[in-house]
Amino acid sequence: MLAIIGGSGLTTLSNLDVSRREVVRTPYGEPSGALVFGEICGQPAVFLPRHGYGHTIPPHMVNYRANLWALHHHQVRGIISVASVGGIRADLQPGDLVLPHQIIDYTWGRKSTFFDGVATPVTHVDFTEPYDARLRAGIEQASRDLGVPLKVGAVYAATQGPRLETAAEVDRLERDGADVVGMTGMPEAVLARELEIPYAALNVIANHAAGRASSANGIHFESLEPVLRDAMSRVRAIIERLIGCQAC
Ligand code: HPA
Repeated sequence: MLAIIGGSGLTTLSNLDVSRREVVRTPYGEPSGALVFGEICGQPAVFLPRHGYGHTIPPHMVNYRANLWALHHHQVRGIISVASVGGIRADLQPGDLVLPHQIIDYTWGRKSTFFDGVATPVTHVDFTEPYDARLRAGIEQASRDLGVPLKVGAVYAATQGPRLETAAEVDRLERDGADVVGMTGMPEAVLARELEIPYAALNVIANHAAGRASSANGIHFESLEPVLRDAMSRVRAIIERLIGCQAC
């Protein structure tokens, strides 16, 4: 069963034929919401909205460990993490879909490992390649089958939030090699790795990053809402195709 973690703009998965919901209790507290189980094109899938069903949990308050533990408890075979981001690279426009291949972590103060118990041996997981190659290839193939444009390869900068960046911070991220910026990519990706769950991200460009292009004088999300809505319908189509719907 594949899991989809939805972010801003994807708080429900309208193409999921829901069979049941389950509030999973975890040793790390409450996940962001009940897991929603169902089928997409006859294939089992489970959905979890990262920010809660009412979109009330800010990025730095998400209980990433509980979310990942709950999905692991249900033995998901992979996770597609959908998240909106700001575009730093000049060719990235609002509404574009991006398949990142690397992460730089600028977050702080988040509970970012399962290996911190007093009785737990010191463990250093390999994180050279933060995203699963097979899942990434599957997403790429699904978008190609559908003729949905996808920008393959981007370095994702995970910032703390919930505030957006300053223009100078975005300049620094670019100097560091980042192409997109978001607030939720870490520690989600590394927690999946610690649990050995294949994990890939599918990013939607919601806005130009601070100080860039149409965000030169500030970021105004309201005007970008229709763009995001249209992009999320393409994300849903890619997920359907990936899961196995030949009609999509
Ligand atoms: N910065 C950080 N996170 C974001 C942005 C951004 O510009 N847009 C959407 N998520």
